[in-house]
Amino acid sequence: MAKQTCPSNIAVIGMEWGDEGKGKIIDFLAEKADVIARFNGGNNAGHTIEVGDKKIVVHLIPSGVMHNNKLNIVGNGLVIDPKVLLDEIKNLEKNKIKINPENLVISENAHIILPKHIEEDRQIGGKIGTTGRGIGPAYTDKAARIGLRICDFVNEAIFKKRFGSEEFYQKYKEYAESLKDYVNDTTLMVNYAIAKNKKILFEGAQGTLLDIDYGTYPFVTSSSATAGGVCTGLGISPRKIQSVLGVCKAYKTRVGNGPFPTEITSAVGEKIQKSGKEFGATTGRPRRIGWFDALIGKYAVMINGIDSIALTKLDVFTAIDKLKICVAYKHKGNIIEKFTPNIHILQNCQPLYEELDGWWDDITKVRTYDKLPNNAKKYLKRIEELLGVPISIVSVGPKREQTIIARNEFLF
Ligand code: GDP
Ligand code: IMO
Ligand code: MG
Repeated sequence: MAKQTCPSNIAVIGMEWGDEGKGKIIDFLAEKADVIARFNGGNNAGHTIEVGDKKIVVHLIPSGVMHNNKLNIVGNGLVIDPKVLLDEIKNLEKNKIKINPENLVISENAHIILPKHIEEDRQIGGKIGTTGRGIGPAYTDKAARIGLRICDFVNEAIFKKRFGSEEFYQKYKEYAESLKDYVNDTTLMVNYAIAKNKKILFEGAQGTLLDIDYGTYPFVTSSSATAGGVCTGLGISPRKIQSVLGVCKAYKTRVGNGPFPTEITSAVGEKIQKSGKEFGATTGRPRRIGWFDALIGKYAVMINGIDSIALTKLDVFTAIDKLKICVAYKHKGNIIEKFTPNIHILQNCQPLYEELDGWWDDITKVRTYDKLPNNAKKYLKRIEELLGVPISIVSVGPKREQTIIARNEFLF
């Protein structure tokens, strides 16, 4: 739905299997934001931000931290490994990024990842190819109503009662002490910011196809990574979300197992993997590479109500002769034009492609849409046509300034 006036809040959502470049886009948009509020996942996420010669990867802390004077909120929809969070704070401070309760607030209702969750994940997560960070088991305990929340964790009496072992208690007590001052009622804070018309970015982790309900189940994560997760993961009404920005790559990637119809098995896949540096920001695993899949794009637009798209990594396509876009699947002799997350169908789908001509110019220094090579513009236009939504941002490199605003009515 086209909007005439600029939104005061934007939900930033991954359109595929994660790693679309959400961190980069959020950091870019955060310049004009007041609040950056993450709503789902845990340290399975890795969001990369490159500014000047600094490159940082945040796992739990929102991607607004490279800017001064912003409020970064970690919502109730997350599962938090306290040690990882403390290490992340330390690492940012090493990079001269000051973290304090003025710029970082953690929801008292987020759940804690305990060592037993990590052990369990490492034992049973292999089939899915999880990140082994205890995410699934922590959300399992949350749903079973036996989880430990941050508010229980920082309350010494409750915490001691629930955890008998003295050694474990002492270690975790230290973590709780260090985190206590960051804990607050983030639901009230976010709603207050909305009421004051503050500019807010709702930061998604993972992506639409890793969502527990709408992803390629069971090869998914255990949280709501789609726009619906903004409401439950932060405590706001769906009527308050003003704009949804879908982040997608010029090609597709996937870490972990599960069907991937447009996966490229030829040398061009390796070329893209190498030039796109497609190795996981969290686990270092190589990411599988595929051509752009318009069925997935349309599905993500529908599930999330995407208003406009931030298309990343266009620069990686430089010097590839022919670019393919999947426009339909063939399944047992039938043509399918709508995406299904049903893996039993998906694993037997063959992609049907349109082919477009590539370009040879380096585009990493291009800063305006007009200066992009004609064939790059044709590629972007075709994606807009197929998905039925405009592209508002084109990213041509990992750095903050390597960003082209194509249309600003969807942005701050
Ligand atoms: P996220 O999880 O969605 O935040 O994405 P990741 O940070 O895991 O992975 C995206 C990777 O692509 C990171 O290494 C980014 O620095 C990098 N990146 C983001 N946008 C671009 C781009 O437009 N071009 C190139 N070459 N790299 C990009
Ligand atoms: P960001 O936020 C890419 C994948 C894992 C595995 C599946 C389940 O950086 O985009 P989990 O540990 O969540 O139980 O693993 O989900 N996965 C991601 N892939 N980017 C992510 O996050 C991911 N978070 C989880 O590889 O296939
Ligand atoms: Mg990532």
